[in-house]
Amino acid sequence: MAYQDPQDRSTAGTTPATGWSMDHQWLPFTPNRHFREVPRVFVKADGMHFTTHDGRQVLDGISSLWCVGAGHNRREINEAIKQQLDTLDYATAFNASNDKAFMAADKIAAMAPGDLNKVLFCNSGSEAADTAMKVALAYHRARGQGHRNVFIGRERGYHGVGFGGMSIGGIPANRKVYGTALLPRVDHMRFIHDPLNHAYIHNAEPEWQEDPLLELENRILPLHDPSNVAAIIVEPVAGSAGWYIGPKGYLKRLREICDKHGILLVFDEVITGFGRMGKNFAADYFGVVPDMLNFAKCVTNGVQPLGGVICRDHIYETMVNPDAPNHVADLFHGYTYSGHPVSCAAAVATLQLFEQEKLFDRAGQMGKVLGDAMHSQLKGLPHVMGIRSLGLAAAVELAPAAGAPGKRAYDAFLDCFTHGVLVRSAGDNLVFAPPYIVTESQIDQMVSTLAAAIKRLA
Ligand SMILES: Cc1ncc(COP(=O)(O)O)c(C=O)c1O
Repeated sequence: MAYQDPQDRSTAGTTPATGWSMDHQWLPFTPNRHFREVPRVFVKADGMHFTTHDGRQVLDGISSLWCVGAGHNRREINEAIKQQLDTLDYATAFNASNDKAFMAADKIAAMAPGDLNKVLFCNSGSEAADTAMKVALAYHRARGQGHRNVFIGRERGYHGVGFGGMSIGGIPANRKVYGTALLPRVDHMRFIHDPLNHAYIHNAEPEWQEDPLLELENRILPLHDPSNVAAIIVEPVAGSAGWYIGPKGYLKRLREICDKHGILLVFDEVITGFGRMGKNFAADYFGVVPDMLNFAKCVTNGVQPLGGVICRDHIYETMVNPDAPNHVADLFHGYTYSGHPVSCAAAVATLQLFEQEKLFDRAGQMGKVLGDAMHSQLKGLPHVMGIRSLGLAAAVELAPAAGAPGKRAYDAFLDCFTHGVLVRSAGDNLVFAPPYIVTESQIDQMVSTLAAAIKRLA
């Protein structure tokens, strides 16, 4: 089928004037048949806005999948990429490297808390998850504990789509049809949401009466024996599930449990890293230093693919053996594009820009505005059963339609798009996570457009 203007069904089957068809691209995580009926194609972006194929302006309420913290089309980042292309376009990553990769690693390590000092680059959050899992196995083996091969994730966690990340992830739909390929030695902690007592979370961590980690201590760890566990991997805030916020003290207690049993703690900060929480990392926000910290997305403002795992010194020092022979690699893992010079040049420029414009502080300030708008404008609307805000992100949860979970939020997403606002639907949640440059009036536009969409659903 050729591209069809949603307003004009008479063009079905024709080739679009723009020179592209809709016949060959298979979109990920997308209902493709319906997409072809109602296409949403971006052709341009600047600041907070996209321009669509049919010439409409759409406000980017989700930083384009949590990536574009500094907003679109930033001259400083574009220039750095162009310059890099003219200087060193690509260089092999094995047994050699490039200057921009070292510069990016210096900057990232300087921003990371504690002794998270060694950066292992990859190209995406999925690769970061698999990389961290492989480092965990290699690290334990290097110190004579190769039996530690159990991984623990959390229900409704998201760590990308590689076999490792999918296995420790806990979003049922992402696992459902791949069951036989999931890694066997993986367990999941219970989810961190209490819909009865803490449905509404307004820019503060909820205080639970019960301890959600008792189940880890009393059931999961004894079942596998803690001495067999390689790592526990969590998102500090559960992003892809729909911005779910754990109870106060949760991550500190998780840190203590890991320390007690020699288990590595990995934070997946692909969403929360580089400013979303108003700090460098969620690790800073919650005051907990993990053993490894995964990042991607905002590190290059989404403009070039780049991900990575920041490791604490003790991991690197265990792996990089001073007595090893000169010709043997420390870690038999890496990607052709690990530390790609163009991506790393984009990262250096992005991190400079974040700093110059104090955009993480701004994210913290605008997060309060977003939280206030969500709670004041959406609470009490039809189907609304919870609202959660923290950092510069917020979600409203709708009651699922009978027999069609996810439909209400998807319909609200389409409605918002039609009215010029990009919101993310995740299950029956609608999530906003705008670029840090968002203004108060744009937040008002986002939330009032969503409020109108929810009312129209009723
Ligand atoms: C926490 C987390 N980990 C990993 C990923 C996967 O990243 P990517 O899509 O770059 O592979 C995501 C993507 O949203 C994520 O939110």
